[in-house]
Amino acid sequence: MNSAIHKAFNPEDFRREGHKLVDQLSTYLEDCLGGKPMPVLPPSDPDALAEYWKQQLNAPGFDLREFYATLIRQSNHLHHPRYMGHQVVPPAPLSALTELLEALLNNGMAIYEMGPASTAIERTVIQWLAVKMGFDHQADGILTSGGSAGNLTGLLAARQAMCGYNVWDEGNTASVPLAIMVSEEAHYSVSRAVRIMGWGEKGIVKVPVNARMQLDASALEAAFAEASGKGLKVIGVVGNACTTSTGTFDPLDKIADFAEAHGVWFHVDGAHGGAAALTAKYRHLTKGIERADSVVVDFHKMMLAPALTTAVLFKNGQHSGETFAQKAEYLLGSGQQKPWYDSAGRTLECTKKMMGVKVYAMLKLYGEELFSDYVTATFDMGQEMAKLTEPFSDVELAVDPDCNIVCFRCCPEGFKGDLNRLTAMVRQEIVKKADFYIVQTNIAGRIFLRITLMNPFTGENDLEALLGEVRATAVKLAGAFV
Ligand SMILES: Cc1ncc(COP(=O)(O)O)c(C=O)c1O
Repeated sequence: MNSAIHKAFNPEDFRREGHKLVDQLSTYLEDCLGGKPMPVLPPSDPDALAEYWKQQLNAPGFDLREFYATLIRQSNHLHHPRYMGHQVVPPAPLSALTELLEALLNNGMAIYEMGPASTAIERTVIQWLAVKMGFDHQADGILTSGGSAGNLTGLLAARQAMCGYNVWDEGNTASVPLAIMVSEEAHYSVSRAVRIMGWGEKGIVKVPVNARMQLDASALEAAFAEASGKGLKVIGVVGNACTTSTGTFDPLDKIADFAEAHGVWFHVDGAHGGAAALTAKYRHLTKGIERADSVVVDFHKMMLAPALTTAVLFKNGQHSGETFAQKAEYLLGSGQQKPWYDSAGRTLECTKKMMGVKVYAMLKLYGEELFSDYVTATFDMGQEMAKLTEPFSDVELAVDPDCNIVCFRCCPEGFKGDLNRLTAMVRQEIVKKADFYIVQTNIAGRIFLRITLMNPFTGENDLEALLGEVRATAVKLAGAFV
């Protein structure tokens, strides 16, 4: 047999390189978690980096350790306490290790035979999370690849259940155009899902938000009436728990009242904040989630698992089996009701990763307080950051934070220029300096710096240092304004 194949499958090589990699990653973790000064996001140019890797491919020789070291060096360091960027969690190291096992076993899970243990484990994880969301034994769901896929899965189920005919087989032949109501602040994956369903822009009925960027429940009836007046049939409403931009939780209870009154589907996008339901201190933010027909929760956001690991839960588990009614004789058989354990009948994916295993391992090893402690600690940090801004009259919060997402900006005293431009420049300068990684957002036409405190080891000193750097940078750049 080809010697490259023998080499690629050599168990001794795997053992040796595996030990070295774990050592290398452990040192990396120590450096990051200890806050060792390093560029949190090493500055780079996309074209230059692409050229570098292209040249490396053609260069002679290859040192695996050096390859790993370079890759680590060039990456965004989520485990560093000064990583405050997008909503991707620094995974609990054990969950990354479990993912190695998942990768090697590679049980595809489309049907039970392709991954018996991981299928059973996924069911256990889904049922555990469903209880945490306040659902009863009728609930069911599936793990899928990300919140975007999760929202699409939930909304496909809504369409199948509420449109009044078998849309899966017959297509979009409803006599009236269908629509979903959602706040202006929803993640773009919701409107993308609606477009994928073929309803176009008009399939999204936007509900205004209040000053806190929260869906204005008092505007639901008017939005519904206006949509009906335009000939649209609203079949569902989406609540955010929470919004991406400002981390604001919508009033889920009031949205649930509305959904019940009109007999429409209630979907909660809890990709980021759904995990608050696991905490004693912040559970109140998700009040009403237990009344949803479908809920999405990302484990790779607020539940310490590597990307991508998303739960889609259905209050009535039947819906989980009715969303994708496709026949595939070679895989799914021809029966009408597919068994729960053949997951390809219930998810976008055919082959899918053994996602539940790492969640199960974390649950068993650390207990569910790992998740509640993590969510509580990071949400507390959001409050702390807001408090730290209070003494500074030049610092403005976009909204009082509900969670670990905080949006703020600095307007130096006497500054009369374009604050949006200044704020964007401040972020650019801070990212270039690379002591911190932060992002920005546009809230109703106003640009704010946006931090998501994903790292439980970010301390008050880090928050103070960021605030100091933002204020000093704003003053420095404002001076050069014309
Ligand atoms: C509220 C919300 N929903 C959905 C998504 C999409 O999730 P994913 O990136 O896992 O596809 C995000 C991502 O930021 C989000 O914040």
